Amino acid sequence: MRVTLSVIKADVGGWVGHSSCHPSVIDRARECLDGGRESRLLIDYHVTSCGDDLALIMTHDQGVESDRIHKLAWDTFQEGTAIARKLKLHGAGQDLVADTFPGNIQEMGPGVAEMEIVERQSETVLVFMANKAYSGAWNLPLYKMFADPFNTSGLVIAHNMHCGFAFEIYDIKGGRKITFNAPEEIYDMLVYLGATNRYSVKAIYHRDTDEIAAISSAQKLSMVAGRYIGLNDPVLITRAQGTFPAVGELLEPFAMPQLVEGWMRGSHNGPMMPCAQAQANPTRFDGPTRVTAYGFQLANGLLIGPRDMFDDPAFDQARHQANMIAEYMRSHGPFEPHRLTLDEMAYTTLPEVLKRLEERFTDL
Ligand code: 13P
Ligand code: MG
Repeated sequence: MRVTLSVIKADVGGWVGHSSCHPSVIDRARECLDGGRESRLLIDYHVTSCGDDLALIMTHDQGVESDRIHKLAWDTFQEGTAIARKLKLHGAGQDLVADTFPGNIQEMGPGVAEMEIVERQSETVLVFMANKAYSGAWNLPLYKMFADPFNTSGLVIAHNMHCGFAFEIYDIKGGRKITFNAPEEIYDMLVYLGATNRYSVKAIYHRDTDEIAAISSAQKLSMVAGRYIGLNDPVLITRAQGTFPAVGELLEPFAMPQLVEGWMRGSHNGPMMPCAQAQANPTRFDGPTRVTAYGFQLANGLLIGPRDMFDDPAFDQARHQANMIAEYMRSHGPFEPHRLTLDEMAYTTLPEVLKRLEERFTDL
């Protein structure tokens, strides 16, 4: 059976500040998607949140980039925004750049990751959601999952993964893309993957079968708005087991709380903390960055789940380490490398301050 899994998320208003999503907003989204399921547009859905982002996880048979599915998501976000306005939540409609449905929701704020697949005998998928991060935050974990044998032993010991994976990488500032084959091109690939504020892994494919293994919401948000309107807090879908890495191999990279951009005002580097959904409500200095992972088994498009995958004491150490790194990074205050470099601040609120001070400079 062909099924499409669409994960679309947006910040439609924070409760309180940028820390969380109000239960009334989540309830309204459930009602909207219930309507979609009743009208048989959706096979199934799950609504959740990560920090102040409302996340819609949907299955259907409409394929990727379906107008009907994107319109349903857009209308759901508008309904959520209406509630956010009524409750005067912070930044109501923050991620929705247009007032009317633009046709292509992807270009207008919400993060979108979608894959159309032929459901396997057992179709295991993981949905990762980050808050206070940019899409480049997936580069390091995706590299480890699909190209690093020290993370994914299946690359060595499973005959059906020996061929490796192809990485499609977006240049989100240059509006271009490139594909690299792992393992033989990993040195070339890392030139770009390591530059997380410009290059993002969009998709990964199994090289023998060409089957999609992972898809992220990499897109050009700040370029669309032309100014800072919040982060594009990315989402990621990965398939697990069989010809893909095991669930544990996909979760393993997050045991290392990597430094990512996105903390406080989208202007600071900090550790990415893997946590259960109930703990994905960042408050310290509006952070540090959170990542949650929801696991599902698909059964003819039904979402059997979620299982809250980081709700496991085995990730306590990563959370502890993230808190120690957070403390250290915070002690730098407004200094780099806690604060982003001036180049990277171009899409934050800083340029307005710089503009005002510009005329006070004199030549050396
Ligand atoms: P969000 O993009 O998650 O709303 O965060 C904005 C921010 O920078 C809070 O400090
Ligand atoms: Mg917000």
